[in-house]
Amino acid sequence: MTKRIAIIQGHPDAAGSHLLNAMADAYAAAAASTGHQVRRIEVAKLEFPLLRTQADFESGELPAALVPARDDMRWAEHWVFLFPLWHGTMPALLKGFLEHIFRPGFAMEYREKQFPRRLLAGRSARIVVTMGMPVMLYRWYFGAFGVRAFERSMLSFAGIKPIRESLYGLTFADEKKRLRWIEDMRGYGARAS
Ligand SMILES: Cc1cc2nc3c(=O)[nH]c(=O)nc-3n(C[C@H](O)[C@H](O)[C@H](O)COP(=O)(O)O)c2cc1C
Repeated sequence: MTKRIAIIQGHPDAAGSHLLNAMADAYAAAAASTGHQVRRIEVAKLEFPLLRTQADFESGELPAALVPARDDMRWAEHWVFLFPLWHGTMPALLKGFLEHIFRPGFAMEYREKQFPRRLLAGRSARIVVTMGMPVMLYRWYFGAFGVRAFERSMLSFAGIKPIRESLYGLTFADEKKRLRWIEDMRGYGARAS
């Protein structure tokens, strides 16, 4: 069965020469060659101000530059996020992007005196993160807090399931390992997972 996939590249550097770019390309190429439909969002290439008030969150307009990205995410059944770990969590640019996208009516429908309705049920996600430290350290000492917070407070809270994660620590990475990670992305892309 073919799937509609949105790949959200969250590296803040628009230069596009990072390992994460090669990983996103590998995922996209494998998914497309297996018949899946792919749309790509490069957060670093979008110009937008930060969200600053609850009033804007609740009733302001989404910045025009983010409308196509919001539409692509709505269109997709499967989201793939890629970002480097910065200070234990996602870079601020990606968080700033998601704060805009996750306005009422996109992820949650807020209701008087009731639990908000989850609007993203039926979608799945994969979170791909590179980090300087060994992944074991991030998981066991830091409790992978940035990835957990993203999963729980934004994705699963809004009904996304399953959420898979691929974490890659660069400390001991050599060329062979990097190529294997790119190969991982090809596998996930081909399976749209
Ligand atoms: C501002 C900044 C903060 C970072 N914070 C962390 C961190 O908290 N933990 C970690 O393991 N690596 C950290 N790193 C390393 C990045 O995660 C790592 O360089 C990145 O995943 C590799 O991608 P790149 O070199 O292509 O940007 C940080 C890097 C930068 C620039």
